[in-house]
Amino acid sequence: MNTAAEWIWAFEFEPEREARREVLCGLANGYVGIRGAEPEHVADGTHYPGTYAAGCYNRLRDSVDGLPVETESLVNLPNPLALTIRAEDGGWLGGAGVELIESRHELDTRHGVLTRRARCRDRAGRTTTIVQRRFVHRVHRHAVGLRTIVVPENWSGTLTVRAGIDGRTTNSGVRRYQALSNAHYEVEQLSNPAPDTSLSVVETTQSRIRIALAARTRVAPGLEPVRSHPVVPVGAGQAATELSAAVTAGTAATFDTTAVVYTSRDPAVSEPALAATERIRGLPTFDDLCETHMRAWRQVWQRFRFRLSSERWRLTHAARLDLFHVLQTVTTHSADLDVGVPARGLHGEAYRGHVFWDELFVLRTRCLREPEVVRGVLRYRYRRLDRARRAARDVGQRGACYPWQSGSDGREENQRLHLNPASGRWIPDETALQRHIGLAVAYNVWQYWQASGDLQFLEQYGAEMILEIARYFASIADYHAGRGRYVIRGVVGPDEFHTRYPGAARPGIDNNAYTNIMTVWTMMRAQDALAVISDRRRSELRESLRLRSRELRRWEELSRRMFVPFHSDGVISQFEGYPELAELDLAALRARHGDIRRLDRILGSTGDDPNRYQVSKQADVLMLFYLLSADELRELLGRLGYSLPAHAVPRTIDYYLARTTHGSTLSAMVHAWVLARSRRAEAMEFFVRGLESDIGDVRGGTTGEGVHLGAMAGSIDTMERCFGGLETRDGMLWLNPYWPVSLGTLEFDIAFRGHLLRVRISGAGAKVTSLAGQTPVRIGCRREIRTVGPGQAVTFVGPLRRRA
Ligand code: BGC
Repeated sequence: MNTAAEWIWAFEFEPEREARREVLCGLANGYVGIRGAEPEHVADGTHYPGTYAAGCYNRLRDSVDGLPVETESLVNLPNPLALTIRAEDGGWLGGAGVELIESRHELDTRHGVLTRRARCRDRAGRTTTIVQRRFVHRVHRHAVGLRTIVVPENWSGTLTVRAGIDGRTTNSGVRRYQALSNAHYEVEQLSNPAPDTSLSVVETTQSRIRIALAARTRVAPGLEPVRSHPVVPVGAGQAATELSAAVTAGTAATFDTTAVVYTSRDPAVSEPALAATERIRGLPTFDDLCETHMRAWRQVWQRFRFRLSSERWRLTHAARLDLFHVLQTVTTHSADLDVGVPARGLHGEAYRGHVFWDELFVLRTRCLREPEVVRGVLRYRYRRLDRARRAARDVGQRGACYPWQSGSDGREENQRLHLNPASGRWIPDETALQRHIGLAVAYNVWQYWQASGDLQFLEQYGAEMILEIARYFASIADYHAGRGRYVIRGVVGPDEFHTRYPGAARPGIDNNAYTNIMTVWTMMRAQDALAVISDRRRSELRESLRLRSRELRRWEELSRRMFVPFHSDGVISQFEGYPELAELDLAALRARHGDIRRLDRILGSTGDDPNRYQVSKQADVLMLFYLLSADELRELLGRLGYSLPAHAVPRTIDYYLARTTHGSTLSAMVHAWVLARSRRAEAMEFFVRGLESDIGDVRGGTTGEGVHLGAMAGSIDTMERCFGGLETRDGMLWLNPYWPVSLGTLEFDIAFRGHLLRVRISGAGAKVTSLAGQTPVRIGCRREIRTVGPGQAVTFVGPLRRRA
């Protein structure tokens, strides 16, 4: 396989997998995302045109079983790339009278370009070849382009192209949500500012965001249009233009559509319709735009350069696609827009575009390449700090309580009821008790600071977030006199299968080990943050937050006296009482049901409840091994007066491995990580599974509802940070390679403290070359610390390498 091929993904048309294809071929630039739907289709059960602008949410009200339900969703905007063609007086492509003989797509991840090759035949037997190329511009964030090349195979005559903006879209991409309202915008204006240009202005019904889309279609030079006139079918929500040209059999005719999207949320825009009309007029040609777009993508890949030397071509191929989607969803454009990381990308409507804790998995690879993007996402959280404070205050707590699901303004967007598709019943959703989201925010702030050394951010925003999060967790921790320790009750851990004790009247479980231990970690970072920032800022913050010494002493005490539940054999308990729950025979369930990843739904359909069993949806305790090194975890537990003997680690891993169904795609990457150093073959299996989550659509058709961004980002992260042992700690870069020798070498570039470093890892050894930099940088590998000056290289020889 040649290296060019590792960038290309090809898809044949398969009706039942078209939604997945549309998502995997989705193009975005952090500002706007467009599914790879074929331009001639409307939503019809097979095809689903989806256009999403980052942060463009709207709220709708419904009633389910008599209960009011309010949901905020990322809005599916009008489709700016709606385009169909007609041969002579035949039927329109996409309509009943025209048969699509073939349609295949090729995604070029190196350049962010999607190419479609199709053939169609109308009732009169006129056969036509169509080639379409599209991009969502990497630099001009408002611009998208679609080139349509038409070759009549066996006919000559008049070809008509109808292109424009289809404003009949609704949010109906997820079957589970179809009982709820889905019309999020009203069409305000449809017009043709020029004969070749359509304009559509819509406004969301509640958030009152105005969105203007303008599309212009022109015939390429050399072909004279016979007729060009605007079409605005009244009442149909479409603004379009029609263009006819005389074409000859065997000769290609090219039509270029360029479109722009503006919203009233855009910085430096006074009015979206004005901006769209002005911009479309002066927009460069398709060729010019495509060239600058492709160049920008090549530059992105220089920054995110990685290379696997081995024959494992399939891994590189999958990793490129995963990274491509991560890199196009969260970008420097999104950093500017006050948006978070939507768990399902800008690719579909699952989870309604909400922001969860998935940035924990997404941001880490960015810290060492595009710190400004990470800073942007953290600022999204900072701007919602007050809302989080209010959420804490509303329930009588102090500090900041970040919502489990976040959208426009930082209130809790978690649904109160959700539909179990297996039973058809709406059931209460108690997963919002996942208070650990705040700990993830604190963790991300600290990681960013460690990787970037951005003290200004820590002083201005980061420290305040960490302090307020620490304060919240201190306020929900109660002192248990009998134990002489602090406990945290009534929460939900990352494993969403356990939201209450069997038969309990109140939701929540007690002393989730992950939450309690990460609380201790956060208390310590709060103290570290106060120590790092300047004296002036420290006293400002202490004064404005009324942070007295007594409170700081309590945090210190909490960090030494938090309760952590253990099984009698030393395994860390997921929460208090977990080992007393009933056991389930997962092998038997697997034999009966096949896929048991969403065992909660299977059990729920027979009136049973996963809360009764020792079974987990995803990594929960094991997240501790994912976020903290074994030494760090041991140190934390030691500080609390617990010990984690060497045998307890594999025992804990085995215990949860046998009880986890991996109902979340995040789980595979965490398991790859925790098994990497002890059970390499299984780790590789999980790694490949995580890498291919969306490619293989392993979650039973959910890829068509959006990518699983956390899993996609986790795959790259696992290569570097887990197998490569890459870490930033104490102002230094650390490596601890454990790279499978069978994979040859792994090479990647990172930026660290003003240096551009090329890291090459093979087996347990590593070579780090400084490609550019100012002052020497210190790099550690296991116990060895070396200094690298600009232009220099250091090599670390690992112990395993000698054996290999
Ligand atoms: C997982 C969460 C995750 C969310 C969004 C859920 O299925 O349980 O951990 O944050 O999906 O990806």
